[in-house]
Amino acid sequence: MNKKIQKIISKKNRGKIVCLTAYSKSIAKILDKYCDIVLVGDSMANVLYGLTNTHKISLTNIIQHSKSVKLGIKKSLMVVDMPKGTYRNKKKAKKNARLLKKITGCDAVKIESNKKNFHIISELVKSNIPVMGHIGYTPQFNKKFRIEGSSNSETKKLLKEAIEIQKAGAFSIVLECIASSASKLITEKVKIPTIGIGSSSYCDGQILVTDDMLGLSGFYPKFVKKYAQLNRVIEKAIKKYTKEVKLNKFPTNKNFF
Ligand code: KIV
Repeated sequence: MNKKIQKIISKKNRGKIVCLTAYSKSIAKILDKYCDIVLVGDSMANVLYGLTNTHKISLTNIIQHSKSVKLGIKKSLMVVDMPKGTYRNKKKAKKNARLLKKITGCDAVKIESNKKNFHIISELVKSNIPVMGHIGYTPQFNKKFRIEGSSNSETKKLLKEAIEIQKAGAFSIVLECIASSASKLITEKVKIPTIGIGSSSYCDGQILVTDDMLGLSGFYPKFVKKYAQLNRVIEKAIKKYTKEVKLNKFPTNKNFF
């Protein structure tokens, strides 16, 4: 097994796993210093391409951004989201995951659970492609956003799903917007690390969309903490530049030849 993957698994019950998303080299280079996992998420559909969901992002889009991200990564584990439709059956999943790994040099792929695609995970794992699972709110398969695992019956179903994903050979699972009691139970019961987004501090690690936590995306649900307001910082700089160009204060002798 890939050493970076082993390292992630070994962090279960031994400190928290830090994960964030990146779509480009410049951001990946900064994340790489601090994160255990950098995810090239299909959330780029909403964040970068202004789409209302993640369904239309293509393998070509993901490959282009992943190639850029790879240039910024030295030590962290690089995981790439497989877009909707690219892992519909075993043959397609294997072909596309192999292509992703070969062209982008990523370490692993992430696939969202539709509650029955566990055989896809085992097929990829058998082919030496490490897989991260994803349960709870899965934007590729859920039409409406809702918190899952608020009742006993839902909690049982989610736990069963997580165990199936573990059995299929995934090395970790994203728990997206799962009630805290259910996330706690799942994290206690499975041997592989759980990575939470909107799913409480009981998870083994946390992930956020970087553009959200930097205040750049304009999308701030309850589970997003804004660690910066880069929109303001950028606007201030652009405003100053605009003013200086108009007043002929930029460029000065220092900036030309
Ligand atoms: O696409 C993405 O960024 C994700 C994370 C939110 C987990 O799947």
